[in-house]
Amino acid sequence: MINSEPCRLAVLISGNGTNLQALIDSCSSGILPAKVVVVVSNRNDAYGLERARQAGIATLIKERKTGQDWREYDGELSRELLAYSPEWIVLAGWMRILSIKFLGEFPNRVINIHPALPGTFTGTHAIERAFIAYQKGEIEQTGVMIHYVPDEGVDCGPILNQEIVPIHPTDTIETLENRVHSVEHKLIVETLANLIQISSNNQVLL
Ligand code: GRF
Repeated sequence: MINSEPCRLAVLISGNGTNLQALIDSCSSGILPAKVVVVVSNRNDAYGLERARQAGIATLIKERKTGQDWREYDGELSRELLAYSPEWIVLAGWMRILSIKFLGEFPNRVINIHPALPGTFTGTHAIERAFIAYQKGEIEQTGVMIHYVPDEGVDCGPILNQEIVPIHPTDTIETLENRVHSVEHKLIVETLANLIQISSNNQVLL
């Protein structure tokens, strides 16, 4: 028998949660054969928490205690997450580096969205930095990538999907941000749909 239960997703956020919303919407419309089982935020004021509550999804607010060792934090976080048995962990605007202590618990199961092309504008404010680089004539386009998170590197790892996002001379930072975010919302859903499909094809028939 093939397992037809929806795939269990944990989504880690730090802010607005528009990518989270795209995932919630595609799960409820059936585009994605998955279910967001928990939303984790390292900030208690992240608006994404409100999106999760409105969708009836469990939330976990995990703020780092002052002076707490990051590996200790990650150890606690992985233990708390394991209780939800997530099959995929999606970093959707999660603004903390995850240590091997965490990643070792979920090998090949953590993926990240980066709002730029592979190897470019790693770290924060990627869209803003791409916009400035475009104005200086250094780049002609930017993009979005989805990648595995194998280690403690920032915005790097085996690439699962990528898409170029054009920049136009008439763009403002807002119009560029909107274009990049629209591509992110589409790409994260497409990528997870592919991963879930591949995992279910590889499943041993019972
Ligand atoms: C996205 O641009 C994501 O790629 C980046 O942080 C942003 C989060 O946006 N890592 P949101 O919270 O999903 O709206």
